[in-house]
Amino acid sequence: MSRPPFFLLHVAAVALVFLQFSDGKVMMEYIGATGVPVKLKSVPISPNISFHFILSFAIDATPSGKPNNGNFSPYWASTLTRDSVAQIKAQYPNVKALASLSGWSLGDTVLRWYDPPNPDRWISAAFSSLSAIAATYDLDGIDIDYENFPKGNSSFAYCIGELISLLKNQSVISVATIAPFYTTVGPYIELFDRYEEVIDFVNYQFYTDRVRTPRGYLQTYRLRAAQFDAAKLLPSYEVAGRGIQGDAFFDALRLLEDSGFAVNGVMIFSADASMENDYYYERKSQDFLFNSTTSG
Ligand SMILES: *[C@@H]1O[C@H](CO)[C@@H](O)[C@H](O)[C@H]1NC(C)=O
Ligand SMILES: *[C@@H]1O[C@H](CO)[C@@H](O)[C@H](O)[C@H]1NC(C)=O
Ligand SMILES: *[C@@H]1O[C@H](CO)[C@@H](O)[C@H](O)[C@H]1NC(C)=O
Ligand SMILES: *[C@@H]1O[C@H](CO)[C@@H](O)[C@H](O)[C@H]1NC(C)=O
Repeated sequence: MSRPPFFLLHVAAVALVFLQFSDGKVMMEYIGATGVPVKLKSVPISPNISFHFILSFAIDATPSGKPNNGNFSPYWASTLTRDSVAQIKAQYPNVKALASLSGWSLGDTVLRWYDPPNPDRWISAAFSSLSAIAATYDLDGIDIDYENFPKGNSSFAYCIGELISLLKNQSVISVATIAPFYTTVGPYIELFDRYEEVIDFVNYQFYTDRVRTPRGYLQTYRLRAAQFDAAKLLPSYEVAGRGIQGDAFFDALRLLEDSGFAVNGVMIFSADASMENDYYYERKSQDFLFNSTTSG
């Protein structure tokens, strides 16, 4: 008696997983971190790739950079208004908007994860403030981009993991991503190991490893894939920045595929810098992802 329903459930689960993967190619684009008047509608969007704008940043700090007890505020470029988010989402059903938490600095103040005296109170305040920001900007998710940590143990994994879980199970967000880099993998591995089921993608900042060749890129990709989950790990590119530059990045993507990795998406930092080159890397990345979708 229990067998047929269980079997059907199983089929449904497999179908869901398949659906997720079949529309799983994703373009991640950080936008609004540098203060230049960048606009969502200037960024080229392929209708065939899921496009995630990552608004940079929502910060748990006062305007002068003082920790604010879990009360996040949006500090991204003022050109990224709630109306512009609504417009781009209405125009492209494949667009999602995320808020990235923290980033490197606010003005001259370097931001860091601080262990709140009462983690559960912090989680509750963060949940409230981010729910309000998500409602205002019609956000679909959050990205975690804390970049400085205290020495030794911290409550980062617990606070952020519980926060994401709560935002997801209360249907405030549907997507959560994390953005480790080479000196911060420790706390992010702890977070990922404990809360992997609520983390959709790893926006690992490969440019911080400063590899310049496709072969080097493959090597560091192998290392990060072993630390996180290869299926969730996205290759990334810093426009006019560190690490691999120019079309060698696309050679690296091809080498990843030829070496057996599924390139399920690309992360770019950032739209702000791409204003200078007419979004060359965004166009070509989506082209690459689309090609690799259609060629199986
Ligand atoms: C890309 O998406 C558009 C809009 O959904 C669709 O009409 C078109 O057929 C797609 N292109 C290909 C080659 O699948
Ligand atoms: C630090 O973390 C380790 C490993 O999770 C744990 O065994 C230890 O009790 C922690 N120490 C403190 C002071 O929290
Ligand atoms: C939602 O997530 C929070 C944080 O992990 C947890 O305490 C709570 O029990 C969850 N609620 C439901 C209905 O799953
Ligand atoms: C995508 O495929 C087209 C047609 O084969 C090719 O001209 C183009 O260079 C490919 N783009 C990328 C980024 O690989």
